[in-house]
Amino acid sequence: MSARRHAPVRQRMARFASAALVVFAVLAAAYGATHGAAANLPARVAVAAQVPPAVVKTDTVTQAELVKRGEYLARAGDCIACHTADPARPFAGGVPVATPFGTIYTPNITSDPDTGIGRWTDADFLRAMHEGIGKGGERLYPAFPYVEYTRVTTEDVLAIRAYLTTVAPIHSTPPRNDLMFPFNQRWLMALWNLFNFSEGRFVPDPKKSAEFNRGAYLVEGLAHCGECHTPRNVMQGLRTGERLGGGAVAGWQAYNITPDKNGGVGHWSDDDLIHYLATGVAPGRANAAGPMADVVVNSTQHLTQEDLRSIVVYLRSVPAIGGGAARPRDSFGRPAPDDVTGIRGTAANTADGARLFIANCASCHHWTGEGAGGRAPGAYPPLIRNSATGANAANNLTLVILHGVNRTTKDTAAFMPAFGPVLTDAQIAAIAGYVTIRFGNPQAATSAEQVAKLRQAR
Ligand code: HEC
Ligand code: HEC
Ligand code: HEC
Repeated sequence: MSARRHAPVRQRMARFASAALVVFAVLAAAYGATHGAAANLPARVAVAAQVPPAVVKTDTVTQAELVKRGEYLARAGDCIACHTADPARPFAGGVPVATPFGTIYTPNITSDPDTGIGRWTDADFLRAMHEGIGKGGERLYPAFPYVEYTRVTTEDVLAIRAYLTTVAPIHSTPPRNDLMFPFNQRWLMALWNLFNFSEGRFVPDPKKSAEFNRGAYLVEGLAHCGECHTPRNVMQGLRTGERLGGGAVAGWQAYNITPDKNGGVGHWSDDDLIHYLATGVAPGRANAAGPMADVVVNSTQHLTQEDLRSIVVYLRSVPAIGGGAARPRDSFGRPAPDDVTGIRGTAANTADGARLFIANCASCHHWTGEGAGGRAPGAYPPLIRNSATGANAANNLTLVILHGVNRTTKDTAAFMPAFGPVLTDAQIAAIAGYVTIRFGNPQAATSAEQVAKLRQAR
């Protein structure tokens, strides 16, 4: 697995580390004011113990059906992304999570009795998923998204557990975490939880449709979309009042996906959204690269049309957040006029964006920026009216140039080479500058320093 693949996990851990620092600083204050502070927390999605929508009773299904459902749910929860360091050893953990304060390794969740969770009882497993507490009673770090998994019904958690017991047990102990004090103090998470975690199962809203409730259950629960798409507070907890209003992960912008017509995806059709989650492409709007490509590959491409439709119904219903955007990300740019052909064949000896674009990008995306090969996933997409070039910052564009695109789904393999190893920071900044001015949002300026920072982002 590539280093980039793990970047989101690392980023979350880095967030956690700074969260721990903040927590440490407020420790004294929190001691006196815990109850008051907890009561003043912003409203959250209603949670309590209850039966979920669209779920078959466990006692009416066979073991095989239970395992199959568990496999589906494990995909919806994307467990494999964080718990697989080596694709040949699924769920054996060991994904190194580097933070400025040391390294943490994800645990082995195969059913190996000694190194995995083979000796865990169902109650242990439920407590981890619902409360963020490990077998020995220790607090788990919120890099494990129990903040969302707490909403998953007991039935569904047990189905995931049933599936995990069928995957090959692998004897493998991830290296010991190497975190320095105070970040190795798990009990600090109890304090973090006070402010940022509210335990409890999803409660369907009887006034809303079954589709809405199913979508809310997935987005706010298993699929944990907000882990990346919701902005964070000073303690690095999720700002639930700005749900899905846009977050950051490993240098990437995880865009605003609320229904706002300018800031979010309110102007996308239902089919655009479904197609994006199922294939990684919303033709003529957006392509999934980086962490979102991984989400599509491991998780959303496997969801049923009904579940994808439910996700879309729910996304349409969250409060719209404009974020100051005057027009949609994917509304910028016109095809380059043919005067740009004049620079073809001229000496490319300067870090000139237009020349570098013609030399490195135009063979696939066309010198006009209109792309080539149609609009199917894997074709060379237009750079005009594309969210990566029209965003208010050049982060994702820069990261796509640095790392390329490597997204293999059931339908197709989308491949763009990584230019990080062959182009300098200044050259990449020049290309990004040309692309945003010519084909995208001219406000999205960048610099060689910014490119250097994004090269290091994890
Ligand atoms: C975003 C990354 C991420 C995802 C997604 C994720 N996990 Fe984890 N998980 C972690 C990390 C990191 C830890 C270790 C936390 C710690 O050490 O405190 C962990 C710990 C656990 C543990 C505790 C194991 C132990 O030995 O203490 C269990 C059980 C678990 N995860 C199950 C799951 C399941 C089931 C899913 C999918 C529904 C899942 N995880 C998805 C990152 C993730
Ligand atoms: C691991 C982090 C992560 C998770 C989890 C995640 N996303 Fe994303 N998402 C991103 C990033 C990063 C991008 C930008 C990708 C790019 O520019 O190529 C993105 C892009 C998108 C876009 C395209 C927006 C645009 O304007 O181009 C949509 C729609 C989307 N995500 C929906 C979802 C939904 C729905 C979920 C939950 C099922 C989800 N995402 C889960 C990180 C994530
Ligand atoms: C060998 C062909 C090829 C070359 C050369 C190439 N690309 Fe791409 N590019 C692709 C493919 C394929 C995709 C992804 C298509 C998909 O998502 O289905 C892509 C996607 C993109 C995206 C959209 C990513 C997103 O997150 O939305 C941008 C922006 C982009 N390329 C810019 C560039 C730039 C700038 C260069 C030159 C430095 C370049 N490409 C060179 C083939 C190429």
